[in-house]
Amino acid sequence: MKGGYTHFMEKEIFEQAETIAQTMQGRVKITPLSPMKYAVPGIDPYLMPRVRMGGLVDHVSTIRRSRRLMFIACGTSYHAAMACRQTVEELTEIPVVLELASDLLDRRCPIFRDDTCVFVSQSGETADTFRALEYAKACGALCVGVTNTVGSAIARNTHCGIHINAGAEIGVASTKAYTSQIVAITMMSLVLSEDAISKRQRRDEIIDSLCNLPDLVRRTLKLNDQIKQLAADLKDEQSCLMFGRGRNYATAMEAALKVKEVSYMHSEGINAGEMKHGPLALVDDKLPIVVVSTMDTMHSKMAGVIQQLMARNGRLIVIANEEDDEMVDIVNGKYPIVQVPRVDDALQPVVNIIPLQLLSYHLTCLRGYNVDQPRNLAKSVTVT
Ligand code: F6R
Repeated sequence: MKGGYTHFMEKEIFEQAETIAQTMQGRVKITPLSPMKYAVPGIDPYLMPRVRMGGLVDHVSTIRRSRRLMFIACGTSYHAAMACRQTVEELTEIPVVLELASDLLDRRCPIFRDDTCVFVSQSGETADTFRALEYAKACGALCVGVTNTVGSAIARNTHCGIHINAGAEIGVASTKAYTSQIVAITMMSLVLSEDAISKRQRRDEIIDSLCNLPDLVRRTLKLNDQIKQLAADLKDEQSCLMFGRGRNYATAMEAALKVKEVSYMHSEGINAGEMKHGPLALVDDKLPIVVVSTMDTMHSKMAGVIQQLMARNGRLIVIANEEDDEMVDIVNGKYPIVQVPRVDDALQPVVNIIPLQLLSYHLTCLRGYNVDQPRNLAKSVTVT
């Protein structure tokens, strides 16, 4: 069942190249070429859609006309929506709102008939998310499910949806579902923007990157030995911080959740844009700080963050891209750098989370805790 791995979490981390490919199978034209390059003479290449999602086709025009897209979820599934927010806004030009299901219910948040609510849930059974779905339906919104479990309560009760097709996830800590959720929501935004001529080039870039993603994930997993060594250096710490910004604020939040839930080490995800508004006071030469600083639109700001943390003697671990010589120069051999492959900004969070999933896995093993069944947690939270 564990296919030669010691734990389900380990297996599920290592199968992500395949699970991501499964999420795209039959939906994305797997070709590394943009439509102009495989155009058939006389046929508008853009009449041949490169991304299709059968579960959405009947509702695409309604979703496009929505006043808002509200993503509603808990835990890791919420972080997946957070990682995609900028891409969905950029491609659809519809305002995106993120809601924790429990908080939405606590506030009885206003939802309108012309809102589209997207319920993201690996299990499809999370009680808060399901209750939020009932509430949104009663408000008259169109409800879309993004789930990994066919026949689950959320899959059955939404108007339409996407099955992420990542295969059963057994480890309590969600790993492969997270990366497949990001891929699925990205594909959804590609489908929703298919009619926008101004987005054609950007869509092509993202689709080409989707095609390359499984190979890049496979390459990222080769960092395992380096991460195991990093985990050995950190295993006796009580706490660590995760800094990220833009799309990778989600990476920082998700990494912190993974570390705390399985290794029981306190960890906090921090938006690096908020650094000067409090967190900087924590920085010293002892507290480990993982800084996610890949070459997206936040790169120069994150380089500045790293310089400021270094000026305060922060104990850093930097996640950067393979070709990022500037970051290597800044760090100047003083701190470990984990160099991950570069991919389109929209998908970089998929690659970036992998070393941090591995870090939480190895920390847990080294600290001697139960990787697949952390204390007090259930795989599917069916009570509110
Ligand atoms: C963390 C984790 C949880 C779930 C959350 C929502 O690793 O697994 O945070 O993401 O309980 O569960 P689903 O996605 O099943 O609704």
